[in-house]
Order: sequence, then C-alpha cells, then structure tokens
Amino acid sequence: VTRVHLDVDPGSDDAVMIAMALGHPSIEVAGMSTVGGNSTVDNTTRNALAILERFDRTDVPVARGAAEPTEGAFDTAEWIHGENGIRGDLSEPTTEPVDAHGAEFIVQQAREYGEDITIVAVGPMTNLAMALQLEPSLPEMVDGIYLMGGAATVAGNKTPMAEANFHNDPVAASRVIQSGVPHMVGLDATHDASVSLEMIETYSGLDEPYDIVGPWLDYPDEIKQFGGGMDPAIHDAAVVAHLIDPEVLTFESYHLAVETTDGLCRGAVVCDERRVTDNEPNAEVAIAADTKRFREVFEESIDALVES
Ligand code: BDR
Ligand code: CA
Repeated sequence: VTRVHLDVDPGSDDAVMIAMALGHPSIEVAGMSTVGGNSTVDNTTRNALAILERFDRTDVPVARGAAEPTEGAFDTAEWIHGENGIRGDLSEPTTEPVDAHGAEFIVQQAREYGEDITIVAVGPMTNLAMALQLEPSLPEMVDGIYLMGGAATVAGNKTPMAEANFHNDPVAASRVIQSGVPHMVGLDATHDASVSLEMIETYSGLDEPYDIVGPWLDYPDEIKQFGGGMDPAIHDAAVVAHLIDPEVLTFESYHLAVETTDGLCRGAVVCDERRVTDNEPNAEVAIAADTKRFREVFEESIDALVES
C-alpha cells in the first residue's frame, strides 16, 4: 500500500484524483492540504472537505493552506472548473479543517511517516515550497515527491509557454524543482491521461453519491480539445494512476529550470532536452502516459470506491 499526502486545489480533476485515491485498495490517503488555484482557498478547502464527506471519508484530515501565490497576482479558473471551483453538486461540508497551515501539515506528515509517505502536489506549488523552507530536508525524508504541473517539451495550457499550476506560482514551482529530484508530471504526459466521452456518460449514470464523478470528468468543449482530440485530460489523476500502476507514466531524467519573472515566459519550464548544458538532471520528467492503462486504473479505482 502506498501512503500519500495530497496537496490539492479541487478543482474537478483534483476531485477525480482524490476519488481514485480513496477508492483504490493500494493507496492510503493520510491527509490533504489545500491551496488557492482553481478557485480561492476558501472554496478549494470547502470542496476538499465536501468530497470527503460525500464519500463518507471524513476521517481524512484536511489542512487549509496558502491563499495566494508566493509572489505576484492570484488568478482562478472557475470558467473551467465550475462555480466555486468544481463541477457537480456538492453539499456544504459539516466538517472543519485541522488546526495547522497546509505547509506545516505537509512537514508534520513527513516527520510522522518518513519514507512511508509520498507527497503529491497537484495545485500551485505554494504549500510545498513553504514546506521546503520550513524543512529543507523534506525530499530526503519522504519516499518521493510527485507534482502535476509544468510543460517541459510541449506548449502551455494557461499561456503559450506555461502550464496553469506553474504559471500561478512560478516562484514556488522553481523552488520545488530545485529541491532534489522530484517527479514532474506535466502536460507532456497528462494530455494522454484522458477519458472518453462514453466514460463521461457511464460515470454520470452511477448511483448517488458516485454519479458526481461524471460531471468532474466533463470539461467545457474548448478545454476538452486541448489534447488534440475531444477526450478530456484528467491531469491530476495521472499522478495517482501512476502510483497505483507504474506502467501508466514513462519518466526521463532532465535538468529543468522554471522562469519566475513576469512576462511572456512566466512559469515556463526550460528543459535541457538535448543535454546541451553540463547541468546534472534535477527532475524525473513524465514524457508519456499510456492512455489505455490510465483508463483501466481509473475504472478499477472508481469501481473499488463504489464497492467500498
Ligand atoms: C492543472 O491546472 C489545474 O487547473 C488543474 O486542476 C490541474 O492541476 C492542469 O494544468
Ligand atoms: Ca489541480
């Protein structure tokens, strides 16, 4: 069993990832932290708590994290993810977050579980960067750090050069990339971590409370076609799918840097793809996702959630 801490900004694809992690018997969710990103941190925290309540998993602790990026302007994406930052009807949660900042909670989890926990960050990297400042040896303490963000060798989705999570807090993304060989799962791979339109139909037709997975998969049409076809990419879910089945993603080692200044390249990943510098690789970069395997792992996970 892989124990995970999930740092999230739910966010519809975050919600799919959480549902898969709660469902699959090979993943144990030790806790979550929230960050402002797809919507305000008030909304992403509410959504995280409401997702857990919907699936009767209020035992999972949630810590509210950073409201704003490390530096610069804050920008949300309700037009993609829905009003309050998530699609589908979620009731107001009756539970509260724990009494620690999201970044502190990440450090606490690392201290408690050490090599028995993997940190997964799929929103702006603000909490994780703060956690690294509080505890610089965090990367050596835990089993691994996986992040969804960046576009190493392909175009961005928020700007021509940058993926949304990295664009929203490039300073934090840069700190995380420099912290000691994280696994970066960016658009290079996640565009192939997609579901089909038939799958959206099928999952919208599940019994309550699981029917909400359908709307979470169902992006607006202009977003669906970003990967090339019409099958929407469920970016964040690619990370947990890979932790369930290491055949889902293919990684290569590269040296990366993140552009932190404002301007055309804010949040862009500079990947030494041709190894033209002497810089040693500092990240494992996901360069491909196996769509078929991703879909199978998604189905296994949600089936297990429904049966739980
Ligand atoms: C990432 O940006 C967010 O909007 C999604 O939840 C995902 O984490 C994709 O670029
Ligand atoms: Ca996200």
